[in-house]
Order: sequence, then C-alpha cells, then structure tokens
Amino acid sequence: MRHLIDPMDLSVQEIDDLLDLADDIIAHKEKYAKVCEGKKLATLFFEPSTRTRLSFEAAMMELGGNVLGFSSSDSSSSSKGESVADTVKVVSCYADIIAMRHPKEGAPLLASMKSDSPIINAGDGGHNHPTQTLTDLLTIRREKGRLNNITIGFCGDLKFGRTVHSLIKALSRYDNIHYVMISPEELEIPKYIKEEVFEKEGITYDQVRTIDEVIDKLDILYMTRVQRERFFNEADYIRLKDTYILDMPKLKSAKEDLSILHPLPRVNEIAVEVDDDPRACYFRQALNGKYVRMALIMKMLEID
Ligand code: NCD
Repeated sequence: MRHLIDPMDLSVQEIDDLLDLADDIIAHKEKYAKVCEGKKLATLFFEPSTRTRLSFEAAMMELGGNVLGFSSSDSSSSSKGESVADTVKVVSCYADIIAMRHPKEGAPLLASMKSDSPIINAGDGGHNHPTQTLTDLLTIRREKGRLNNITIGFCGDLKFGRTVHSLIKALSRYDNIHYVMISPEELEIPKYIKEEVFEKEGITYDQVRTIDEVIDKLDILYMTRVQRERFFNEADYIRLKDTYILDMPKLKSAKEDLSILHPLPRVNEIAVEVDDDPRACYFRQALNGKYVRMALIMKMLEID
C-alpha cells in the first residue's frame, strides 16, 4: 500500500503520468464519472481548509465515489483526547482512502503507520503539502507548456509556507529552474530546505527583499499568505503581514506571459484589481486542484 506524505514519495515519471491523467480528465470528464463507484474517501481535517477539503470531496464525487469525514478537530473525538493513531486506525476501517490535514508536522506520517487505507497528506503544519504541489505543477504545465527552463519567484512567508517547501522540493528534479526567494529576513526559507534541497542538489538561488528588483525576470510569481497561525506572537505577524502587496503598478515591468500563482486563501498580498489581468492564474489553479486530486485518487486506489 502506498501513501503520499511528501512530494518526493512520487517519482518524476509518476508525477508526469498524474499530470497527463489530470489533463485527460479535464478533456473527457464523462469517461471518469463512475470509476470510483462503491469507494469511499474520508477527509480528516484537524485544521481549517476550504479548497483542499472541498476539492478532494468534489474530486471523489466526480469519480462516482462517496465521501465522509470531519472539517475540524472540535467535531471529532480528538476533542475528547483521542490520539491521531487511534482515529486513523478506526477511520481506515470505514474508508478506502484518507486525506488528512493536521497542524502538527509529521502527523500524517504517523497516521500512515497505523492506517489500513492509503493516507494522503493534505497539509501538515509548516512542513509539506504534496497535493497543492501537484496542483501547482499541473497549473505551471498547463500555463507554460513545460516544467523546465523556468525562472520562478517565491514571495511572502517562505518560512512557514508548506506549499513553498513542497513545490521547491518537487521542482528541484526538473532541469534549469532558476529560483528567486523574495521575503523579509525573518520569513526566509528554512535551513533544512537550503541544505537538503538546494545545497544537496547543487542548485543556486537568489535571495532578495523586494518584488520590484526581480519582477521583470520572472516566468512565474508564486505569492503566499503570511501564515498567521504559525507565529509565536501576534505583534510579529502584524509587523510582517503586509510586507508584500502585488498590485497593477508593480506588474508594470513584468513579462507579458508572467503567470501569477497563489495557493489561496489570499489576505492582502494580491490586490483584487490583479484578478482581471490574464496573468492571474490563481483561480484556474484552484480548479486544477480538483482534477489533479481526481487523478491522484485513481492512482492510489489503483484504478485504471
Ligand atoms: C495553503 C495551505 O493550507 O497551506 N492553502 C491551500 O491548501 N490551498 C496555503 C495557505 O493556507 O496559505
């Protein structure tokens, strides 16, 4: 039985195959309407979510399967003190596949050791978010037609942003990716990403403090929200939360075919006026998330 805990659990070939399947699902939705009949997906969300949980559920429904689960730890027995291990052990008797989000790094990995059904990590603390990475890769490939030869800028909370960590890891296996890290000093990417991904793979990257100094060079700008829930004190969050606001004047010197991505939810970091610019891809990205999760559910349930 396979689980998906870290984006590196999938080989490059498997990722490319998943993206191909997602493209085919988009082109021929009707072909897939019944492939998961009789199967159940459980969504165990110990932390808030809109897109990830609902796109997982919509994905399973569009494959003809059923869904069950909870959307906060308050409405599960974890509020009575049940361990993640026990919850998962039980739910894996009810469901064929489980998507789980938890505020603690490593919780889905622990769950995978106890579960009788495949576990998909739907976000663990500030650590990983592999299905957002699949969403991002599908979006980049559909927007740009390639996953290599790209200059990508990551902007905002690179310290706590799990989507950033997972996407960097996944992209490190494609050729000629040039990384530009745009953040305040306090929100730089964690040391372990610098060491275990960049240094280990011999990848160089630029580190800057403003969008303006690099925007004209980027093929992709990956904006992120400052992750309030991971800060130790509110004063630091308030000081840093509006460091970057992407608006139309900032886009003046950007390439005409720049793709602006954001995992969402957005707070203030992208002005609403940018939404109407064709370079804004984030709502298409959210839709891609459903299709790539359909592909992933099929793969993990070994459905042809
Ligand atoms: C992201 C997450 O949960 O990490 N959202 C998502 O899944 N689309 C990003 C965020 O919460 O800022």
